[in-house]
Amino acid sequence: QQERAALKDKIRRLLQEKNAVMVSHYYVHPDLQDLAEETGGIVSDSLEMARFGRDHAAQTLVVSGVRFMGETAKILSPEKTILMPDLDANCSLDLGCPIDDFAAFCDQHPDRTVVVYANTSAAVKARSDWLVTSSCALEIVSALKDKGHKILWAPDKHLGGYIQRETGADMLMWQGSCIVHDEFKASELEALIQQHPGAKVLVHPESPADVVALADAVGSTSAILNAAKSMDAKEFIVATDNGMMHKLRTLNPGKTFIEAPTAGNSATCKSCAHCPWMAMNSLAGVARVLESGLNEIHVDPELIPRARQPIDRMLAFTA
Ligand code: 13P
Ligand code: SF4
Repeated sequence: QQERAALKDKIRRLLQEKNAVMVSHYYVHPDLQDLAEETGGIVSDSLEMARFGRDHAAQTLVVSGVRFMGETAKILSPEKTILMPDLDANCSLDLGCPIDDFAAFCDQHPDRTVVVYANTSAAVKARSDWLVTSSCALEIVSALKDKGHKILWAPDKHLGGYIQRETGADMLMWQGSCIVHDEFKASELEALIQQHPGAKVLVHPESPADVVALADAVGSTSAILNAAKSMDAKEFIVATDNGMMHKLRTLNPGKTFIEAPTAGNSATCKSCAHCPWMAMNSLAGVARVLESGLNEIHVDPELIPRARQPIDRMLAFTA
């Protein structure tokens, strides 16, 4: 406890000294979420992290999240220093979509508009026409469909499948998935719903289709927060990374939040509702990188202008 308080003090001081600001995702440790907010930074979904990092005047951003979030910040602000507590904090979607295979896939389908999820490398972004996050994917694909576009979608098959079902767009799909959301199980969720008949079910669309089918609200991390706030229920079952529980509980003190079941008791569970890469972020890591300047994110300067285009399109669309 004392060590945590000392680390927080150190981070507060270093942020000021280095003209730096913290940007945290909802899935990282509560300490990193609270400290980001308290010191003038932000805790948010991946779309707002990108916008905030681009618009904030600080010269240094400390991004607590996973690698693609740091890279997106760098692409949007190449002149800023982007630090991350752990450079190995990756994402199964990013890892499962290597640029050479992805570029070959795109080359086979030149008639399709390439729409990629933010959870990808800078090189994959540079090969795309549009970037989306889960909070704007539905609207962007829907608008493209209305203009007659056929879509090549990557990398998350579950999010892509959800958007395809909702919009009816013609989507050719890369077969990636998130190791955390892939673990949610519909049959166990159904049993839990029976035990809590008044509960509303909130689901992130990276979850499998049969889990999404049981949802009262489907959406990004920020959409889940909004739904919890606005829905008239006392109990909620939540199918997303359990880092989300911190904000859900602190912002809704009269409501109860229950984690949706995963295959957590079986040997096959790789994540058990908490992203192993998000978990690499820590107070000690933030203090260390602020002090040393180590763990700076670099993106190949040749990629930046091309990777920036699809991100700018998304930010303009959602402005
Ligand atoms: P959000 O854009 O909903 O914050 O999701 C990011 C993510 O990595 C979810 O697993
Ligand atoms: Fe990637 Fe899933 Fe972790 Fe989000 S929760 S960063 S999609 S592995």
